Amino acid sequence: MNETIPQLSSYDEPSLDAAFATLAAEVHTESSAPHDAEAFRLRWLGRKQGRLKLISDAWLKSAPAEARKPLGIRFNQLKQQIEAALADASASPSASAAKAGIDITLPGTVRSPGVEHPLVKTINEIVAVFHHLGYSTALGPQVESDFYNFEALNFPPNHPARDTQDTLVVAGQNDRPQRDRLLMRTHTSPVQIRTMIAQAPPVRIVVPGKVHRNDAADATHSPVFHQVEGLCVDTNITFSDLKGTLDHAMKALFGSAVKTRFFPSFFPFTEPSADVQISCIFCAGKGCRKCKQSGWIELLGCGMVDPAVFASVTAERRKINPADDAYNPERITGFAFGMGVERIAMIQHGISDIGHFYSGDLRFLEQFS
Ligand code: PHE
Repeated sequence: MNETIPQLSSYDEPSLDAAFATLAAEVHTESSAPHDAEAFRLRWLGRKQGRLKLISDAWLKSAPAEARKPLGIRFNQLKQQIEAALADASASPSASAAKAGIDITLPGTVRSPGVEHPLVKTINEIVAVFHHLGYSTALGPQVESDFYNFEALNFPPNHPARDTQDTLVVAGQNDRPQRDRLLMRTHTSPVQIRTMIAQAPPVRIVVPGKVHRNDAADATHSPVFHQVEGLCVDTNITFSDLKGTLDHAMKALFGSAVKTRFFPSFFPFTEPSADVQISCIFCAGKGCRKCKQSGWIELLGCGMVDPAVFASVTAERRKINPADDAYNPERITGFAFGMGVERIAMIQHGISDIGHFYSGDLRFLEQFS
């Protein structure tokens, strides 16, 4: 670079001020436009050919003695201005990126963000419907004791009702009292018991989670699957509250045109119990292959909390407070319901084989992104 050295006509203060103002403006313009910081540094501060060195040599050479001090002060200020501009440049990310050889104007590496698994998506949808009704989420362990999974829920030892939930048990438990023996929970209902032991009414919880049954895998069964449980306990809870709540939930999940109907059923921990059906969302109730020409699809189990369940909860609570009466069935009633997540997700998305959920096949999963 063969730059001209500006001439200094006179060494009086106004001339010095004017000359240095021009240099300061030059530095300012160069450092505020996009630039290569290293080239800028060399151009101004380079030891042999730097502008600051060349100009100061030229101007000091012919300077009268009394002008050396005011010149020196001004060169120092100019040097500080240049150094400050360099410090700013190295603090800016684009400058350090440029130094590291990174071109920040190139498009970045595109990482596809993960998406919710369809089962998680359905769980979140169900749970959100109940959160809007004031329910909170409760969780419990997958390895459960016989007491919480069965006994407290009014399945006595050896009662045939246990056969409806073919259980995977943890080995080596036979020398323990029956109530303490561990098993893989067969439903999310044990969290009803855990919650009521821990907390007095009112209770409004939804319980999403994994459950296990010794079922052979086929197109609609899997030994590991998911449920969402619900429990509402308070004064004056009636069967019409149960019907209204579930009718609302089914409309929220499947569309407002959906109808519900309740059939008598049996669960040891609810009395009366019911199975809930929704009008077939594929044929709007006219009858098709999906609903086996009935116009209805069975979706969940429910019922009013059996007083025997309140009695087991009270017995446990009285181990801590012998006077506890929080779940006195004379005053307190409630309802519970439980639904299978896989079944609901299969209906929502028209999936015919439950195995797709667990296959990890991206061709299946990517359809939900
Ligand atoms: N726990 C029952 C099952 O897994 C479902 C259910 C829950 C029924 C709550 C009634 C009330 O089959």
